[in-house]
Amino acid sequence: MQVRNDRAYAVSRSWELWRDKRGRLSWLRIATLALLLFPLAKALFDADAIIHGARPLNDMIHRAGFWALVFLGVTLAVTPFRHIARYGQLVDVRRMLGVGSFCYIATHLMLFTADQGFNLGKVVHEITHRWYLIVGGTAWLGLAVLAITSTDGMQRRIGGMHWRRLHQLVYVIALLALIHYFQQTKADVTVPVFAASLFGWLIAYRVLAWWRGTNELSTLSIFALSVVVSALTFAGEAIGIGIAFHVSPLRVLDVAFNFQAGIRPGWEVLAAGLAVTGLDFVRSRWNARRRRLRAVAAE
Ligand code: HEM
Repeated sequence: MQVRNDRAYAVSRSWELWRDKRGRLSWLRIATLALLLFPLAKALFDADAIIHGARPLNDMIHRAGFWALVFLGVTLAVTPFRHIARYGQLVDVRRMLGVGSFCYIATHLMLFTADQGFNLGKVVHEITHRWYLIVGGTAWLGLAVLAITSTDGMQRRIGGMHWRRLHQLVYVIALLALIHYFQQTKADVTVPVFAASLFGWLIAYRVLAWWRGTNELSTLSIFALSVVVSALTFAGEAIGIGIAFHVSPLRVLDVAFNFQAGIRPGWEVLAAGLAVTGLDFVRSRWNARRRRLRAVAAE
């Protein structure tokens, strides 16, 4: 009887996404839920424009795909940010963010199926015959595997080490999702380049931390990382546009310094990197000061 009661308690609690593992109301979880529901609220707000637009279903496919990618990025950002912001509790919402990303990607596929008139044969044919859909479909399957195996029960069944290895698939999935994003982009690659650079920054942070054998990078390392990723963004964009439009990459780079022509992603990534560097600087000083005060109080 006791076991049954415990089980009932555990099942009912798993739906209470706004509570932490100890059953306490968590503002971090509530904020995360609000963030995950924001695209839905925005779509409802834009409903009139979507319905009267040229291709309502296609508009929604784009929205769902875009937000799935955003939340995949936010999920990957949890690990670096809990160290940079010195806020370990962030890890509590990582699973919620990852599963949220999968919910949007499931909607993305459902809307695509609706756009094909629910003709499953046609859906399968499209996904297996168009390169950008083969890539997107592979990323979709990967995310599904990660979502299914994200529960505590699955984690126990698979075993900690194997589970962690399996979930490292997320880096391959992110790469495939970005390739899919670039492939379906018709002309302006500004947003995909910005997204790719942010993902690049997040992955480079982990690689650097692993190489240094630490979790926390110094403020100087974060600054250097941001400058290098920004420089690579300028170079990558210039080379990519140069090849695609048969122009000299140097001419593309020249335009990057003409702010009247628009702000290029390299600058945006640099600004984001400097903001993160500033956050790390403030938090490390703050922590050091608190440690000093505690030591003085203990004397
Ligand atoms: C079976 C799997 C998938 C299918 C059938 C699919 C299909 C599509 C289609 C039809 C488009 C619009 C293309 C156009 O209008 O020309 C699109 C765009 C997009 N998809 Fe997917 N996709 C899949 C998987 C994914 C995955 C796994 C991700 C990311 C996690 C993703 C992210 C995106 C993004 C970011 C866009 C562009 C959104 C924008 O324009 O802002 N897709 N996808």
